[in-house]
Amino acid sequence: MRDEKVISQSFVRFYPLAIQSGKGCIIRDVDGNEYIDFNSGLVCLNVGHSHPKVVEAIKSQLDRFLHYSVTDFLYREVVDVAEKLVKITPGKWEKKVFFSNSGAESVEAGAKLARWHTRKQLYIAFISDFHGRTFGAMSFTASKPVQRRHFFPLIPGVTHVPYAYCYRCPFKLTYPDCHCWCVDFIDEHVLQKYIPPEDVAAFVFEPIQGEGGYVVPPPEYFPRLKKLADKHGILMMDDEVQAGMGRTGKWFAIEHWGVEPDIMCIAKSIAAGMPLGATVAKATLMDWEGGSHASTFGGNPVSCAAASAVIDVIQEEGLRENATKQGTHAMKRLEELKEKSEIVGDVRGKGLMIGVELVEDKASKKPASKKAEEVMMRSWKRGVAVITCGKSTIRIVPPLLITRELMDAGLDIIEDAIKQVEKES
Ligand SMILES: Cc1ncc(COP(=O)(O)O)c(C=O)c1O
Repeated sequence: MRDEKVISQSFVRFYPLAIQSGKGCIIRDVDGNEYIDFNSGLVCLNVGHSHPKVVEAIKSQLDRFLHYSVTDFLYREVVDVAEKLVKITPGKWEKKVFFSNSGAESVEAGAKLARWHTRKQLYIAFISDFHGRTFGAMSFTASKPVQRRHFFPLIPGVTHVPYAYCYRCPFKLTYPDCHCWCVDFIDEHVLQKYIPPEDVAAFVFEPIQGEGGYVVPPPEYFPRLKKLADKHGILMMDDEVQAGMGRTGKWFAIEHWGVEPDIMCIAKSIAAGMPLGATVAKATLMDWEGGSHASTFGGNPVSCAAASAVIDVIQEEGLRENATKQGTHAMKRLEELKEKSEIVGDVRGKGLMIGVELVEDKASKKPASKKAEEVMMRSWKRGVAVITCGKSTIRIVPPLLITRELMDAGLDIIEDAIKQVEKES
């Protein structure tokens, strides 16, 4: 393959899907095969492929100017998006935005800002979280060993604690009888034993774990974590790179828990496939001095034009409402399947961020990685582009404008594949 010869093979290609074009929720490969896109280009296309309003905004920007580094000069496009972002992010306080080019960079900026503002050096992050691949972001990432192997030393000062993965509780407890011990554990066994809380700048977390397996914490979890943060003066840094921009039926996933973070990291779907990262923080927090952080291409005007259009489209076309509607329907179907299937261990999600965790059997809960891979391959061959996450979770993340008909058509194929794989085992 030409690709293998000249492209870094440090990625995981799940199957050889070579894209020719995309429109809405449908993609076409170079051989002319069509697929329902349950990946959204790795969760970057909440508004679908080539949304006409986004394409128009990009084209109009292309005719005006492509770049003029906002690190040194001024342009309106970057301010337009920032004004929209500070309105749609949770928290009534004044906010400021730092623009970059990617999810990892939005995390880097958040982490640097937390240190700069607090003058504290430590962070608490969470096992199975994914925050990106640059050295700083990778230091928070704890999803798979391959993401860190041979890359040490990472940045010092990051302590990982268990996340609220109730289906596989790291403490072998059962929700709700556990009373969210995973939060008390941080206080009693980490902050009171070996990580002085007054030296911790921030909790760095995903509101719903993405790469780690689409893990959704219970309702008390983030309010309890926030209480702990307030008790010790620790900032809440919320990585919404995958779960944000309407994906879960709210602008940002953390809103499901009613918690208002101090710092938010946003990327992926923000600009419908154009590279853009945004770190949004309380204005009182974003008080770093000129020259302390910058990025030449951060807030590129074409990406910003796309992002402005994306926010308008999500708002005007009711995409959060549709995510809730179609997501509720999909969850109901998958819950019904779980009742009948021995290999569907857990179904979880919010809006159109849904994970179906496959197991060898419900008693042992052994992750069925091969079965999940088989379901993914069969679905793809039958016209649904879908991939896995965690050890054995099928992740369902179509564009938010998906219709009931396409949702059902895609789910029919995935459910069939699960039934077939179960029957053959
Ligand atoms: C939650 C989360 N944070 C950060 C990142 C890193 O984003 P990027 O690949 O744009 O650097 C990702 C990418 O998958 C992600 O899912």
